[in-house]
Amino acid sequence: MLSIYELVSVLLCLGLVKAIRDILIARESGRIPSPPGAPRLPIIGNALTIPKRAPWEVYATWWQKYNSDLVGIYAFGHLSIIVNTRKAARELYERRSTVYADRPQLTMINLMGWDFDTSLIPYNDEWRAHRKIFHHNLNTWNAPAHHPVQLAQTEILLKSLYTDPHEFENHLRRYAASIALSIAYGYNVDSNTDNILKIAEEAIDMVSKALVPGAMAVNAIPALRYLPDWFPGTGFKQFAKRSMDLVTKMQDMPFAHVKRSMAEGTASPSVASSEIELINARGEGEQGEKYLKRALGTFFTAGADTTFSALLTGILALVLHPAVQTRARAELDQVVGRGRLPTFADRSLLPYVTAICRETLRWHIVSPLTIPHCPTQDDVYDGMFIPKGTPIMMNAWAILHNHDPDAFKPERFLTEEGTLNDDEVPFVFGLGRRNCAGMHFASATLWIMMASVLAVFNISKARDEQGNDIPVEVAYTDGMVSTSLPFRCSIQPRDHAAEELMEQIGDANV
Ligand code: HEM
Repeated sequence: MLSIYELVSVLLCLGLVKAIRDILIARESGRIPSPPGAPRLPIIGNALTIPKRAPWEVYATWWQKYNSDLVGIYAFGHLSIIVNTRKAARELYERRSTVYADRPQLTMINLMGWDFDTSLIPYNDEWRAHRKIFHHNLNTWNAPAHHPVQLAQTEILLKSLYTDPHEFENHLRRYAASIALSIAYGYNVDSNTDNILKIAEEAIDMVSKALVPGAMAVNAIPALRYLPDWFPGTGFKQFAKRSMDLVTKMQDMPFAHVKRSMAEGTASPSVASSEIELINARGEGEQGEKYLKRALGTFFTAGADTTFSALLTGILALVLHPAVQTRARAELDQVVGRGRLPTFADRSLLPYVTAICRETLRWHIVSPLTIPHCPTQDDVYDGMFIPKGTPIMMNAWAILHNHDPDAFKPERFLTEEGTLNDDEVPFVFGLGRRNCAGMHFASATLWIMMASVLAVFNISKARDEQGNDIPVEVAYTDGMVSTSLPFRCSIQPRDHAAEELMEQIGDANV
């Protein structure tokens, strides 16, 4: 044990080391080079060469070309940095996590009302309050409390796929949204035209457009926000107002629904109702409710699109890899049998199914450049200067796509004996203090969907009128959440036993 004297000395030394490091960084910053990058034009920098298609793949080639863990992109005097290696990602996001836990603040995000979202807010007290709510409800130990909701929604999904397989993409989208809204508010999405769902989807669509680099001039020149509404080129203001209206409704409507049903004694169990009870018991009042309402909004905005993207990739991988389906079914039949659907209790006995899910997350990464972090102070990494506030993006795609990257091989995640290895696809859910707050929950949703679909359906390429296979292309959108472009496939019950199981499930809520 250290004495108080020794402890104080250690703390003083640490403080001194940090102070000296800060002074050195400040003095050296003028001389230390920034991360290398593509050749730049005067003023606009790389603005014209920022890749529009699959930028993560282009940035990965820059890493090799400039032989640097970090590469820089300049546009109109603003630097952004891409982290292309595991070593640098671990060093900055984990070892220096207190410095790299902030998020860049874009003017348009605030004007559009998106400063409620846990994944976008600064590293401050409100963020800590949000993370507490997520932790309390979705950490490894508490996430299983939501298994009943996931199982019930999975049955609805299976029935929808059985009765209307062509609409599989819509069914998966509704499944991801229903699970998010159901655990957050106990709210049942009754169709793809559900009012709250429509509002939330439009709000997300608008913010995705505003986040495209270079899409909104006001992000580069914040003073534009003060121009009068009639001034040419201020269409962004109308856009922002529409978004603000949607974002407010998206948070207020389901929250009011929970409070009303709590007062009437009819509330379904949900994160909202249990956290409201806690807020009341602790006397946290308006401030507590405000933070809760905003964190709950994030359950949908951070959880629905991302989960949908992973689910769709899972189906795409199965269409293209019939041998993977055969091996998974052999495992499922042995462990689960043919008379029931898989449950979470089977999870530890189905390593191959779990390996398929991990490979799904690696094969196409849902958020290949993750969400930008930014440092709260000037910093130096490996002789490169990183100014305070610089947006830093981790290229998870580059980090996880190095050995035979395009092949879909669940075996990557298995030992020779067929058990799971220790590789849990880190990086896919980010790193450090701002890592994904719903990762255990999201992995569980992907797992139960894949296990259940594999247990009852054969997934194959769709056929045209002449009986020929319709080719399936692997093509993805380029946004912060990257999703497969629509593809066609056939989803049919495996056999009579699977049909019987489907008939036993209650009617889909469609
Ligand atoms: C397969 C599905 C999902 C994937 C791949 C995913 C991935 C990510 C990634 C890459 C980040 C950024 C991490 C970073 O900046 O280092 C993130 C943040 C976040 N995710 Fe997820 N996510 C998924 C599902 C979910 C779900 C279901 C929820 C909640 C219901 C959720 C809640 C969050 C939150 C709150 C943040 C922001 C964390 C912060 O800024 O402190 N995510 N996620």
